[in-house]
Amino acid sequence: MTIWTPELPEGGPRYRRIAEAIAQGIERGELAPGDKLPPQRQLADRLGVTIGTITRAYATAHHQGWVESRVGSGTYVRRSIEEIPTSFRAGQPLDRGMIDMGMSLPPPHPSRTQGLQRALEHITASPSALQAATEYQPEAGNETQRARIAAWQGSLGFPDDPSRLVITQGGQHGIQLALQVLSQPGDLVASDTLTYPGFICAAQQAHLRLMAVPMDANGLDVDALARLCARQPPRVLYTTPDLNNPTGAQLDETRRKQLVALAREHDIWLIEDAVQYLPVANRGTPLVTLAPERTLHIFSTSKILTGGLRVGSLTAPERLLERLGTAIRAQSWMAPPLMVETACHWMEDPGSRELLHWQIGELAARRELALERLAAYQPLSHEGSSILWLPLPAGRRSSELQILLARRGVKVSTPEPFCMGSEPAPQALRLCLGPPIDRESLAQALTIIDEVLAEVPASPWQTL
Ligand SMILES: Cc1ncc(COP(=O)(O)O)c(C=O)c1O
Repeated sequence: MTIWTPELPEGGPRYRRIAEAIAQGIERGELAPGDKLPPQRQLADRLGVTIGTITRAYATAHHQGWVESRVGSGTYVRRSIEEIPTSFRAGQPLDRGMIDMGMSLPPPHPSRTQGLQRALEHITASPSALQAATEYQPEAGNETQRARIAAWQGSLGFPDDPSRLVITQGGQHGIQLALQVLSQPGDLVASDTLTYPGFICAAQQAHLRLMAVPMDANGLDVDALARLCARQPPRVLYTTPDLNNPTGAQLDETRRKQLVALAREHDIWLIEDAVQYLPVANRGTPLVTLAPERTLHIFSTSKILTGGLRVGSLTAPERLLERLGTAIRAQSWMAPPLMVETACHWMEDPGSRELLHWQIGELAARRELALERLAAYQPLSHEGSSILWLPLPAGRRSSELQILLARRGVKVSTPEPFCMGSEPAPQALRLCLGPPIDRESLAQALTIIDEVLAEVPASPWQTL
């Protein structure tokens, strides 16, 4: 048994400093893979803290992936450092103690890095793949790569026509490109009242005017949009029919058809952002299928493979393809061919199918757990959603709760950054179910959220 007494780093709650010391001990090699950590009571006595502090420290180190608990035996250093998510390794001390429910990320799984590794091995072993990965390519990507990406998204239920697809550097790039070819500074662009901040930012950078369209649990309110159109129709509508980020709302089938009819009536371009889409049952018809002549469909590898690849697609009507090519060329010539080739190999690896299956099942289990634990607050989350929207009880404020939760080690998002217009943001939290390292960490975060919500809020009265 390891007789190990950590030296605690400065600052922060004691359990976090102990968890940090465990991480540092592993990184420095003081604790080797497979070593058993001291029994909790022994370490508590040695450090002069309560046993509860040690329990929390070990749970935090477990959540971060440094150690594993074996029932009836104790807590052990993980067998291989490769199992520890890089975000928790050295050089990332800031959020080490936090359970992240603030970032929209797919759930961690070792096969994510293994899939990437296999794709890279494939490329280095194949002269033709190496050539495709290292030479300049046409702006929209070469024909073979476009066909491979189209086939992948076709297998998920999206357009599979490579002749209308350009390869992008991820979903955010797709949004920026779409706005660039569709609008001029000063144009009116609309979106759901709460929408993806990356769109708001891109529209502001392009000097566009924003129009907020009311929404509810069934997504964008098309009748409200019709009333706004009677005054002045927007040139472009950006929306996320499969999963509104941050509320998780889905646009129902009737509204999809009404939206397309309205867009045709007022000649509105549609940008359909499907980055958050996962192929589960009961998905509505994509807008690009209903109105291919006026829809720009955005997809990405970020939420299915990994965000760091920066590879996505934009499927657009033929008449826009030349302008899109020019815009890509003006920005960066093309999406980096090495990344595109890597993404193509990874998509074609049978392991990526298994990973997607696992991800859908894992998110469903996490969603069920969260809906059950927080049932008293009537959270919203559709099937296939990686997000849970938590309206707050009367008298509680999102910003206050975000701070209280951060102090207890849980990171969440408030609606503020998602607000399109100047209407006050609703008092709610967005909880992302993907990033916690496992269901145990998620359960720990949900318990903390439940406890913080049940506490009587401190008086905000601090001024005259
Ligand atoms: C709705 C939506 N669109 C686009 C993006 C950005 O995607 P990417 O990482 O591929 O740029 C995100 C990221 O979370 C998103 O939620």
